[in-house]
Amino acid sequence: MAEIIPGRREEIKALKAEHGNKSLGEGIRFRGLTIPECREKLPKASGGEEPLPEGLFYLLMTGEVPTTDQVKLISEDWKLRAQTPLPSYLVELLSKNVPKTLHPMSQLTMAVMALQERSLFARAYGEGKINKNNMWEYAFEDVNNLIAVLPQVAALIYRTRYGKKAADSNVSDWAGRFAGELGFTDAKFTELLRLYLSIHTDHEGGNVSAHTVKLVGSALSDPYLSFAAGVNGLAGPLHGLANQEVLQWMLKLRREVGDSPSDQQITDYLWTTLKAGQVVPGFGHAVLRKTDPRYLCQRQFAQKHLPADPLFRLTSQIYEIAPRVLEEHGKTKNPWPNVDAHSGVLLQHYGLVEQDYYTVLFAVSRALGALSGLIWDRALAFPIERPKSLTTEAVKKLVGA
Ligand code: MLT
Repeated sequence: MAEIIPGRREEIKALKAEHGNKSLGEGIRFRGLTIPECREKLPKASGGEEPLPEGLFYLLMTGEVPTTDQVKLISEDWKLRAQTPLPSYLVELLSKNVPKTLHPMSQLTMAVMALQERSLFARAYGEGKINKNNMWEYAFEDVNNLIAVLPQVAALIYRTRYGKKAADSNVSDWAGRFAGELGFTDAKFTELLRLYLSIHTDHEGGNVSAHTVKLVGSALSDPYLSFAAGVNGLAGPLHGLANQEVLQWMLKLRREVGDSPSDQQITDYLWTTLKAGQVVPGFGHAVLRKTDPRYLCQRQFAQKHLPADPLFRLTSQIYEIAPRVLEEHGKTKNPWPNVDAHSGVLLQHYGLVEQDYYTVLFAVSRALGALSGLIWDRALAFPIERPKSLTTEAVKKLVGA
């Protein structure tokens, strides 16, 4: 990082000066790579087929595809960082004091906030050690420390809320540790989690959660404060919470029409949802105008590993019918499914059936994208974000309306 930051600073300055007024295209790329390319090129666990999220983090940080050894180093580093026990007040809070009715996403925010007393960035700032050149280094340490313990924290929320036990597991990559902490030993589930945690990392940085992390970080709030804010954005139903909503919508459909509904029954159910003034969860997107490639890669995973699963078959049937209905309805800019329309079905198949936990998995993954961006924001000394805000009257006056 220390070697590549100065060159990048110059490059971005020159790029902005020359091309700052042009508009950019749409789609999902991680440092120029499409989702299928990431899936193909990023290192896998031994015997595995899905990318290790550590590799995606390396790609987001450096712009380069890492080697297997480089990814192994990150796995080991995060494992080591996670060996510092969680503070006892946090364990008490999550395992004894939070009410069972508190949503897991709110628990996650509280947990990240409770960890904030570990922030090296905040401590260094308080001691007057931070300057424009070194602040990324403190952010880098905080980010890696936080990412390293997120699986432990998230799994503690899961075990306490649903009365589960951690599994004995010696899989030591980041997703593998997470699977074990959640109590899962099925190698296929671990592979799914590696894929899941890789593809949910980011989407252009402009989505609510990643952008919130950036916005709050621009005030030089440390990475813990910034990430907790982003988690709250992800908890909104138009953003990350949609993955829980999709499953609930589908299970309700199944309860009403059974396991093998006709196309007409699905069409009717879609219209009932739309006529009630509700959205079809998991369909549509603020900027994508085609099927989300993250949906498609989860579909490929399902076609390979669980083709006969009844919920997957229902998902495929909805995929055939919903875009047509939404187009006819005429109110959705993009009638195609997004990432959230598929993830819950896969998790259900392997036994992770607690829908109100799904957005926590999304948040753990989003940490990689949003927080790698935050290190770069500090490295490039980005200024505080401050959009202008005026009353409607003032705007009218200014434009002569
Ligand atoms: C995301 O990954 O955050 C979603 O695609 C939503 C978005 O990009 O706004």
